[in-house]
Amino acid sequence: MEQNRREFLKMAVLGAGWLTFGGCSFESCLQQIANRPIRKDVNTLAANDPIIQAYKSAVSQMKALPAGDPRNWINQANIHANHCPHGNWFFLPWHRWYLTYFERICQKLTGMPDFALPYWNWVKDPTVPAVFWGDAGNPLYDSTRQIAPNQAIDPSLVGCSVVGTIMSDANFIDFASDPITLAQDQRTVAGFGSLEGTPHNGVHGAVGGDMGQIALSPRDPIFWLHHNMIEKCWVEWQFVRNNANTNDNNWTSRHFTEFFDPDGNPVDVQVGIGQLLPVLSYQFDSLPVVPSPCPATGLTPPPAGNQWAAAWEKFNTVKTRADQDALKARAQAGASVKLEEILRFPLGAPATIAVGRPARLRISAPPASLKMALSAGERVLIRFDGVTLNHTTDFFAKVFIAKPDAAASTPDSDPHFVGSFAFFNHDHGGAAVRGNFHLDASAAVKRLDLAGNSVEVNVVLTPFPKRVLKSNVLEIAATEIQIVKDVIERGVK
Ligand code: C2O
Repeated sequence: MEQNRREFLKMAVLGAGWLTFGGCSFESCLQQIANRPIRKDVNTLAANDPIIQAYKSAVSQMKALPAGDPRNWINQANIHANHCPHGNWFFLPWHRWYLTYFERICQKLTGMPDFALPYWNWVKDPTVPAVFWGDAGNPLYDSTRQIAPNQAIDPSLVGCSVVGTIMSDANFIDFASDPITLAQDQRTVAGFGSLEGTPHNGVHGAVGGDMGQIALSPRDPIFWLHHNMIEKCWVEWQFVRNNANTNDNNWTSRHFTEFFDPDGNPVDVQVGIGQLLPVLSYQFDSLPVVPSPCPATGLTPPPAGNQWAAAWEKFNTVKTRADQDALKARAQAGASVKLEEILRFPLGAPATIAVGRPARLRISAPPASLKMALSAGERVLIRFDGVTLNHTTDFFAKVFIAKPDAAASTPDSDPHFVGSFAFFNHDHGGAAVRGNFHLDASAAVKRLDLAGNSVEVNVVLTPFPKRVLKSNVLEIAATEIQIVKDVIERGVK
C-alpha cells in the first residue's frame, strides 16, 4: 500500500511537467510519444497522399475563417510579421513553436489528429515541390513566387557540401545564430549563424515574392515546409548527431506569448520546454538531411547508411519509462557553450561591394598561423559585421579565399569556396538595419596552399536568376578573420 502510494506520488511529480506541457498523464505520455505523427519528406508523398490532401484542406479552411479568428491564414502570417526573431538564437525555438501550433490547428480543422506537417528537403530537391504549383485553384500555389517551377536553388546556398558543413558544426552559438539577453527585444538583429544565414535566408530570397519578405512569407504555403526542414536540421543536429543546445538562462527562460492553440486561445510558451516538442509532439522520418554520396566537406562526416537510420530509430522509438526519462533529460540537458576568440585579424576598413565587381579584401593574417591553429583543433572564421540587409529579392553573397577571379558562376565545388550568406528582407522602409554574418573557413584554409603574410577574401554578389535589381551594392562595416575555439561543457551551467 505504502509502496503504491509512494509510486503514485512519484508519478504525480514526474507527471506534472508533462501535464502542463502536453496535457497527458505519465502513462498516456508514453502512448503519445509512441504515436506522435511522423513529419515526412514532401517528395516521398504522392500528390493524392492523405497528408497533402489534408494540408490543402487546412490551408483552404484557414483562408476562409473570419478575419477576427486568430487561426485565419492572414492572422497566422501576421504573427510572423509582428513577432518573429531573426539574426539571434531565438530563431530556432520561436519557429519551432510557431510550426507546432500551426500543425495543431491543421489537425483540428481537418479532423485528422495524426496530421504531420511535411518538410521540403532542399538539399535533396532544390526546386519548389510539384504539388505547390498549378493555378489559383490549388490552395498551395502562390502566384507571387519569382522562382520558376523547375529552377533549382544555387548549391552554394543549399548544396550537400554547404549544408553538410553547417550540420557538422558542433557549436550551438554558431549553429543557432547569435546570443541576445532576456532584457533585449526578441527581434534584436545580432548575428546570423550559417543555418539561418545561408540555406534559411537563401531559400526565402531564391523563392522570392511573398517568401522574400518577413511580413508576408507565411502567406506562401511553402513557408511552413521550408521551416519544417530547418526544424528537421535542428532535430537531427541535436538528437542524431548528439550535439547540445545551450543551457544559458537567457535562452531557456525566454517566453513567447503570441501563438494561439487550435481553439484560437492565446498560449504562453517557453524556450526550455520547447526542447520537448520533438520528443512529445511529432517525429521525423529517418532520412538524413544531407543525402549521400556528397563530395567530402573536410569536416566530420555523418555516420554512414544503416548507422544513420539506426540513430534516428533510437531517438524516435521510446518504449519504456526509463527510455522516456532518459530522452526527456537529454532533450533539456544542454551545455555551457562558448565560441572563444583566440586571435583576431581585422581588416580595419569598411567595404562597399557592387554586383559584377567582386571584392578583394586583403587581410593581414599569416596563413601559417591559421594552419597551426587548425592543427591545434581551433577553427578559422571569416566575420562580416554591420552588413546592410535590404537585398532580399536581389542577390546573395558568395565568399572565397585567394580567388581574385571569382565570379557569380564560380561553383561551390571550387577549392577556394568558403560559403555563402543571404538576406531575409529587413527593409521596413525605415532606417537601414544591419546584421553580422560569419562563415567557417577552416576547410578551405586547410586544403589550400596559402603563402605570404595575408589572406585575400573575395566576396561575389550573385543575383538570383532573372531578377530586376532594386539595389546592387552591399556595405560591410568591418571584416575580419578570427581564430576561435569551441568550448562546450556538458553538465556545466
Ligand atoms: Cu521567420 Cu524563414 O522566417
